[in-house]
Amino acid sequence: MSLVAVNGSPSDTSKTHALTVAAARLGQGSVIDVSSLDANALVLRGEHPSVRDALAAISAATTLVLITPVYRATYSGLLKLVLDQLPPECLHNTAVVLAANGNSPAHFLSLDTGLRAVVASLGGWTVPTVVYATGADFGEDNEPNPELLGRLRAALAEADRILPPA
Ligand SMILES: Cc1cc2nc3c(=O)[nH]c(=O)nc-3n(C[C@H](O)[C@H](O)[C@H](O)COP(=O)(O)O)c2cc1C
Repeated sequence: MSLVAVNGSPSDTSKTHALTVAAARLGQGSVIDVSSLDANALVLRGEHPSVRDALAAISAATTLVLITPVYRATYSGLLKLVLDQLPPECLHNTAVVLAANGNSPAHFLSLDTGLRAVVASLGGWTVPTVVYATGADFGEDNEPNPELLGRLRAALAEADRILPPA
């Protein structure tokens, strides 16, 4: 079993990044910060090992955690650049946890209305619980608070339950 947590924020020091690190820590997995990948390869102007390796790691994961800042009431364009490069059905047999960090609680449905359908189009199985956070869910050091970590733990437990036997 392997977990990969993908941070779709342009920042690798932000709250979204901190939530990504927390997911990887809880699931003993690894972090991919999309912002650290080669920009030209992300927009298909060539190939680069950083993008190739990221796509391979995502395809091989048994549990995938997609974590995005909320931009214009949906997931980030940066995350979409990665998802669009995944081959069809590449998330078949992958349990997927959806998480977002926004300024406003008003967009808590954005994971259900946007990102869940993207994962389904790739054959992935999203868990029922989405992890939606706002600034109030983080401490001054950007660390996710215990309540947010509890929601993350619950979603990861659902991922474990839907995975096929090894
Ligand atoms: C271009 C842009 C659009 C945004 N749109 C929304 C939005 O529609 N809803 C919302 O709740 N927050 C919105 N935000 C706020 C971000 O989701 C929020 O600042 C988030 O914490 C960013 O996460 P990060 O700094 O950890 O990457 C937007 C921010 C930017 C830069």
